[in-house]
Amino acid sequence: MSASKGVLLLAVLLLIAAIGGRGETVPCKVKDAEQGKVCVCTADYCDYLENPTLTDDTEFALISSSKQGLRFATSHGHFGTEDTYTVQDYTVEPVPEAKNKTIFSRLLDQALDSAFTLESRESTITRFVTLKVNRSKTYQTMTGFGGSYTGAVSYLVDNFKQPELADHLYKSFYAEEGLGFNLMRISIGGCDFDLGAWAYAEEEDNTMLDGMDELDERDVMRVGHIKRLVEVSGIKNLRIKGAAWSAPPWMKTNNRWTGFGRLKKQYYQTWADYHLKWVKLMEDNGLPIWAISTGNEPLNGIFFMYFVKFMSMGWTPQTQAIWLNDHLGPTIRNSEFKDIILFGNDDQRYSFPHWFKMMNYTRPNSVDYLDGLSLHWYWDEIFGSSLIDETTDYAPDKLLIVSESCIGDKPWQRSAPVLGSWERAEKYTRAFLENIKHGFHAWIDWNIILDEEGGPNYVDNTVDAPVIANTTTNEEFYKQPMFYAMGHFSKLVPEGSIRVDAVPSNVNLDCVAFLRPDKKIAAVLFNSGRADTNITVVDSERGQFTVNVPAKSIHTLLYS
Ligand SMILES: *[C@@H]1O[C@H](CO)[C@@H](O)[C@H](O)[C@H]1NC(C)=O
Ligand SMILES: *[C@@H]1O[C@H](CO)[C@@H](O)[C@H](O)[C@H]1NC(C)=O
Ligand SMILES: *[C@@H]1O[C@H](CO)[C@@H](O)[C@H](O)[C@H]1NC(C)=O
Ligand SMILES: *[C@@H]1O[C@H](CO)[C@@H](O)[C@H](O)[C@H]1NC(C)=O
Ligand SMILES: *[C@@H]1O[C@H](CO)[C@@H](O)[C@H](O)[C@H]1NC(C)=O
Repeated sequence: MSASKGVLLLAVLLLIAAIGGRGETVPCKVKDAEQGKVCVCTADYCDYLENPTLTDDTEFALISSSKQGLRFATSHGHFGTEDTYTVQDYTVEPVPEAKNKTIFSRLLDQALDSAFTLESRESTITRFVTLKVNRSKTYQTMTGFGGSYTGAVSYLVDNFKQPELADHLYKSFYAEEGLGFNLMRISIGGCDFDLGAWAYAEEEDNTMLDGMDELDERDVMRVGHIKRLVEVSGIKNLRIKGAAWSAPPWMKTNNRWTGFGRLKKQYYQTWADYHLKWVKLMEDNGLPIWAISTGNEPLNGIFFMYFVKFMSMGWTPQTQAIWLNDHLGPTIRNSEFKDIILFGNDDQRYSFPHWFKMMNYTRPNSVDYLDGLSLHWYWDEIFGSSLIDETTDYAPDKLLIVSESCIGDKPWQRSAPVLGSWERAEKYTRAFLENIKHGFHAWIDWNIILDEEGGPNYVDNTVDAPVIANTTTNEEFYKQPMFYAMGHFSKLVPEGSIRVDAVPSNVNLDCVAFLRPDKKIAAVLFNSGRADTNITVVDSERGQFTVNVPAKSIHTLLYS
């Protein structure tokens, strides 16, 4: 081999190391966007973070993201250190660099630069807070985190020029070196994030549900994608939750996809059978189903038909109690899929806990068929968390899941993606913290990717998403700050982690902490303030250390 060939080989090897085999750390390729920074992924470059390892009991690892541009910057330190550690915020310095320096080496430099330094800073308005973690005081056990694979997602992914780009999307969310998601929501038939309304057994009066033993053409691609996702991400136990937006029109009182329409009474059993057949269909096609809900946003077809233009079917708590108690519940529990998790409500917080009380009033103990209560987060800022507490008092021991979340759904919000918005990441962070502190076990976000307009959505009900595709080229996508915000919760908090007590001494910090199955502690720390903050972490079993974190930053702390 000639010397030049040797250099070339070395360069190629370094390149492969930089763009990552499984488990490799690759820094964010930062791009300035409209309102902040996004991370760019292309077919041959996407950022990942290998999960940090700890060498001894006093060591801790801290993963940090900030408004300025840190994205999963990792640093290590030790309990018992007198000095204050400092998480250096992202700074862009004009680098007089050699022309031949590759983008990869520049990015690696940036990543190295973002490590800890012990230098003291001339702080102006430094604040401080003490965080006490008590691993003996325990709360709920976490089920996990996830996103949704809609027809819109499938459509965008299918348009990617290179299949490697799709693999990066899948790994970014579901691989260990990605966000470590383990949950996924999919629609039973279509939803608004599709190219059109659709359902299985659409043909008029198909009361035998003929044809439901085969995938609808609109599901073939999506099921194929999800199987590829499972393969490339290496996820061991993907938990899929299904929900139907609407029955086919012939089963409904108004014979339409949307509007004021309910299920006709004579089809209550048919609609239960439809769910069972769908579960079997997915299982037969290699996607075992973990859970189903009683139907997406039942109040859309009762109160909100003038606003909601997409597929929906109305239920009152009374009619749903009858359907669940007399049809769906027995059908599922007497089938080979009797262990499937059944979630109720799948609607907004304002219907909690009244919905379940009314159900029980109509069919005593119908709520017993429900393993879990499913919530959409959209009105959380208006309807307080006391509604959640009242619900858990009324129906304790239910699995609590947020099954849909996104930003841009309100008339007063911009309904399109805002590229680089840290404010939207903060909204996510606050919502995750609040709901987890009120006992939630799981969170499933909405579309994992959308286009620049926040679609496709067949009725233009566009919103933001954690990843936005570039549909001009179909050769790259952008990870929004919201992506990292969710990752700060999901990445180091695996299924089976138990929430433990974590109490900050003042409002300068918001946080939750977990005891993981491997007995390590993972804590999410959120500094929403405009100033940097000294956080002293005190764990009675481990000791303490102090770290200075930048203004507007989110962190995940890991220690033994
Ligand atoms: C924060 O820590 C730094 C470094 O140790 C120290 O100089 C500063 O006084 C601390 N600020 C507060 C408010 O404790
Ligand atoms: C990069 O450029 C510098 C200065 O122009 C040169 O000395 C060096 O040999 C170059 N390195 C490579 C690997 O080409
Ligand atoms: C931690 O919580 C346990 C259980 O509630 C309690 O007995 C113990 O006193 C607490 N420890 C500290 C240091 O607060
Ligand atoms: C449900 O209804 C039954 C019968 O009306 C009642 O006895 C029971 O207490 C109710 N359950 C709850 C949790 O309210
Ligand atoms: C998509 O890529 C094109 C071509 O590189 C570029 O002009 C455009 O700004 C990109 N779109 C976004 C939203 O960044």
